[in-house]
Amino acid sequence: MRQVIFWLTGFAAITAATATKDYTLHVDPFIGTEGPVPGSGFQGGNVFPGATVPFGAVKVGIDTTRWNVSFSAGAGYTPSGNVTAISMLHLSGTGGPPTYGLIPQMPLTSLEGVNLFDNITYMQSKTEHDVAEVGYFKTSLESGVVAEMSASMHAGIMRYSFPETGEKHILVDLSHFIPSTGKYEQFYSNSRMEVSEDGTQYSGYGVYRGGWVLGGDYNVYFCAKFDTAPSEAKLFSGIYTDPYWPNTTNVGAEFTDATSLQGGRTGYQWAKRVGGLFTFPANSTTIQSKVGISWISSDKACQFIHDEIPHWDLETTVAQAKDKWNAEVLSKIDLQTNNSTLLTMFYTGLYHANLMPSDRTGENPYWESDEPYYDDFYTLWDTFRCTHALTSLILPEREVDIIRSMIDIWRHERFMPEGRAHNYNGRAQGGSNSDNVLADAYVKKVDSKGLISWEDGYKAMKTNAEIVPWNTFDVDDPTGSTQHGRSGLEDWKTRGFISINYGRSVSKTVEYSLNDFAVSQVARGQAPDEVEKYLERAANWQNIWDTTVEAYNFTGFLAPYYPNGTLAPYHPLTCGTCSWSAITYEGTPWEYSFTVPHDMSTLIQRMGGPQQFEDRLDTSFQPGLGEADHHNDGIGSMIFNPGNEPSFMTPFLYNYVKGRQWKSVMRSRALVDTWYHDGPNGIPGNEDAGSMSSWLIWNIMGLYPVVTQPVYLILSPRVEAISIRTGDGLLRVTARGLEDGPYIQSLKVNGEQWNKSWVTHEDLPAMWDDGDLPPSPGSQ
Ligand SMILES: *[C@@H]1O[C@H](CO)[C@@H](O)[C@H](O)[C@H]1NC(C)=O
Ligand SMILES: *[C@@H]1O[C@H](CO)[C@@H](O)[C@H](O)[C@H]1NC(C)=O
Ligand SMILES: *[C@@H]1O[C@H](CO)[C@@H](O)[C@H](O)[C@H]1NC(C)=O
Ligand SMILES: *[C@@H]1O[C@H](CO)[C@@H](O)[C@H](O)[C@H]1NC(C)=O
Ligand SMILES: *[C@@H]1O[C@H](CO)[C@@H](O)[C@H](O)[C@H]1NC(C)=O
Ligand SMILES: *[C@@H]1O[C@H](CO)[C@@H](O)[C@H](O)[C@H]1NC(C)=O
Ligand SMILES: *[C@@H]1O[C@H](CO)[C@@H](O)[C@H](O)[C@H]1NC(C)=O
Ligand SMILES: *[C@@H]1O[C@H](CO)[C@@H](O)[C@H](O)[C@H]1NC(C)=O
Ligand SMILES: *[C@@H]1O[C@H](CO)[C@@H](O)[C@H](O)[C@H]1NC(C)=O
Ligand SMILES: *[C@@H]1O[C@H](CO)[C@@H](O)[C@H](O)[C@H]1NC(C)=O
Repeated sequence: MRQVIFWLTGFAAITAATATKDYTLHVDPFIGTEGPVPGSGFQGGNVFPGATVPFGAVKVGIDTTRWNVSFSAGAGYTPSGNVTAISMLHLSGTGGPPTYGLIPQMPLTSLEGVNLFDNITYMQSKTEHDVAEVGYFKTSLESGVVAEMSASMHAGIMRYSFPETGEKHILVDLSHFIPSTGKYEQFYSNSRMEVSEDGTQYSGYGVYRGGWVLGGDYNVYFCAKFDTAPSEAKLFSGIYTDPYWPNTTNVGAEFTDATSLQGGRTGYQWAKRVGGLFTFPANSTTIQSKVGISWISSDKACQFIHDEIPHWDLETTVAQAKDKWNAEVLSKIDLQTNNSTLLTMFYTGLYHANLMPSDRTGENPYWESDEPYYDDFYTLWDTFRCTHALTSLILPEREVDIIRSMIDIWRHERFMPEGRAHNYNGRAQGGSNSDNVLADAYVKKVDSKGLISWEDGYKAMKTNAEIVPWNTFDVDDPTGSTQHGRSGLEDWKTRGFISINYGRSVSKTVEYSLNDFAVSQVARGQAPDEVEKYLERAANWQNIWDTTVEAYNFTGFLAPYYPNGTLAPYHPLTCGTCSWSAITYEGTPWEYSFTVPHDMSTLIQRMGGPQQFEDRLDTSFQPGLGEADHHNDGIGSMIFNPGNEPSFMTPFLYNYVKGRQWKSVMRSRALVDTWYHDGPNGIPGNEDAGSMSSWLIWNIMGLYPVVTQPVYLILSPRVEAISIRTGDGLLRVTARGLEDGPYIQSLKVNGEQWNKSWVTHEDLPAMWDDGDLPPSPGSQ
């Protein structure tokens, strides 16, 4: 038993076979669309199941109703919901209230009883299970209409198959968005729509605001075409109805013969609702449409259609999307196994991990720049932990672009993003985690071409570390900015901890410690005389380590303190609302007490030594001991919460105890087997822009990255052979004897016998093709 022999090696030869495999066959976009209650998204992944390309600027999918507004539909999709539209912009995996669901179309077969301003009067239940593949989505409506869709980078293509009999309409309601409740509700503000003489083309823009990152009005430009001339194309408008007054009784569409219509004066928030109704001849059973989206102009949106989908062949766009996913993302890791369940979990995870942020290079409406531009960071608090490390390993050029974009946002908006959507920095849940992302790439030397200005990158990190962000007086936590940067920084600098005067004081203290360690890592190269200062600040978590508090017989936890240094009453296993104004955010003090990856040796000492540390880890995974109510963000009964990010690394901390690496393997296996599978409920919590999926991928590969260090903890691979194409090499993970159990008996790294529970980024294959380049004999 326990026979596993594990090798990590660099190989010069890249197997040609991987280039031609179709990995999209293993992607099931429905994984993570459902929670434990069938049909509902509550406590599920909230992933986006529609059509898109890697880091797609548009994400084309359906929007549905929820049967309980308390249940989230972060990506617009709930399995049991009724369809209200097919729209062009979505996020994936958001747990908070939804954002986008913009620029819709809705096929209708009858107008009887329909109020075009009231989706409840025309929403459609589904007659079959939706079909989703990479780059393709299909839904079959009660009305008999089948809607299929695909996407390029900036445009969507839709094919509507109408029943032979019945009317054929396509409704465009520019005031449509994915609804929510409360302060994070989105708003429609204004819009303009123009329709061509023959009705085959329409264009314009919609103006929206709000959503989870908050923020003011923003314009989304569109350009759309039909392959069939409508028999009638009419624009309409109607009075504004806001989300808090959804009663549309006595509110109806007023039609006009005009070919252009504007909701209200430019800049006016309460403009009329605007839309278009396109009615097609009775014999047009198949109607196709293309919609381009731009954040700059509708001309640009038209150009995107012209450049990216110049034909009317949905299948071509589907095939191109699949090719992109294979070439750019999925072929980067070849998991060699015959276990189709595992293949589906793995490649779906890899797909989900590369949906966001959205690549909006050239599409920033606010400033001109030669830098790449990314939007929809949602959020770095989630993705810094292990998603960016995955991007750095297999798509280093993307990671470099993403970092350049973050630094460019700092250049123009003073702070790098934490959460960002529709070009608006919003919602900093804890630390300034952009620091962690930059430092992680810096220490791994991801930027081999020198494209990142690290001088500016360091300045951007110093802004986080030194400049108090303007207080946004958020009702959820009015003590400091919830937008970006580090709120409570005054305390950090003067007291060396965040006092209970500020929201999330305990989690922020431990997060800012890691952030300052990140700053120190980049300072090593950029400002060596500042290394010491930030290293010292990185130890600030020790200032709130209380040695008297006890829980489950363990003593010593992170704790809330008044400014005068007196301990405030609390219990390490609970966090009240565990939200913005609580002492810890979406995790208990017990959980946060493990999150010091940059100084595990001090932490282990503080916890009473390796044995106590190990026992405390064991206790974290014991069912029934959890006491906090994490609502939509939590699952299970352990103190460790498999449904959220704060404890992502905790199961693998056994690697910091001699001879206990096998327990990390044990936890990794058990957590994956219990909480992840290939069904729609196969992700145990909000996917958060690929965070949960990245965690799964690392577990299957048998490695886990230690963020801000060039270090990977060794677990045990799930399959016998994995080939990982890194930026400039190939990493082979090989295991023998897995059939006898997952525990490692012997390990070799690059041919050398290995007795450490970790490897460094440099131990992974270095660039092998650094010899002479192939000859150019005709060179002049
Ligand atoms: C349906 O329309 C009403 C009225 O505009 C709006 O309040 C609601 O959010 C919409 N629901 C969906 C699911 O789009
Ligand atoms: C969907 O529509 C049907 C009527 O067609 C209705 O009975 C059902 O409650 C709706 N479900 C949701 C979640 O809106
Ligand atoms: C909706 O879900 C929430 C959260 O589970 C629950 O508290 C509430 O009772 C539900 N409401 C309805 C109308 O079912
Ligand atoms: C909507 O408005 C109509 C007309 O004022 C009223 O009769 C009806 O009760 C209202 N419905 C709701 C749910 O408020
Ligand atoms: C539909 O009917 C119109 C007029 O009768 C005709 O011009 C057109 O070619 C027909 N289209 C199809 C797809 O049969
Ligand atoms: C998969 O199955 C095929 C056919 O049974 C076999 O030849 C191959 O070795 C298997 N591969 C792995 C990785 O188990
Ligand atoms: C395939 O992998 C899944 C997921 O890890 C696992 O549950 C299942 O037992 C595996 N099947 C076989 C035949 O090993
Ligand atoms: C704590 O210690 C007491 C006394 O030794 C013991 O009875 C109890 O089971 C322990 N609790 C846990 C959670 O281990
Ligand atoms: C510190 O401040 C808290 C809250 O104001 C107060 O209850 C406590 O008595 C103070 N402790 C000391 C030592 O002054
Ligand atoms: C671990 O491996 C290193 C390098 O091969 C070697 O120097 C060291 O003695 C080994 N340690 C143990 C405890 O075997």
